[in-house]
Amino acid sequence: PRAEETPIQELRDTISERLSQVSIFAPLSDEETAKLARATTTRVFAPGEAIVRIGAEGKSMFVITRGSVRVQVMENGYPRIVNTLGENDFFGEMSLLTGEPRSATVVAAEETEVLRINKSALKPIFEGNPELVRSVGEIAEERKEKLRSMAERATEAHEA
Ligand code: CMP
Repeated sequence: PRAEETPIQELRDTISERLSQVSIFAPLSDEETAKLARATTTRVFAPGEAIVRIGAEGKSMFVITRGSVRVQVMENGYPRIVNTLGENDFFGEMSLLTGEPRSATVVAAEETEVLRINKSALKPIFEGNPELVRSVGEIAEERKEKLRSMAERATEAHEA
């Protein structure tokens, strides 16, 4: 480490590096990535801990840097796993894009480290990068479609 760097600066450099490894953030400039890094914190969750809860207001988006998570919804009173996400995957993007409440509960499947990116820092970055919004939006749309078809099937099964 360079002598003139403070520990906080080093931490920010690490967060910048990790953010730049996430494919959706690849189009961002170094400056934009650095700006995002300043609004990003690292958090570790224990197995079984909820990171976001369905119905809650969305104030941030997450990138998994270690571990894995289960995305789940309640179905006829039971938790139903919609998907599993791992290292370098992101979640929490839907609420940020639409302003809607969290669409699912996301639970740490093992000890999991995430980067939490603040909504207010992401907003200007989204505004300046239509390409980023499009790629995140496409993934969000696919995810929403899966939620929708699962909910439909559950209703059919329940009614049958
Ligand atoms: P958000 O709605 O903000 O909060 C819950 C998150 O779960 C959501 O954003 C997505 O990131 C994630 N999610 C919802 N549905 C799916 C899915 N089908 N596959 C993967 N992730 C999902």
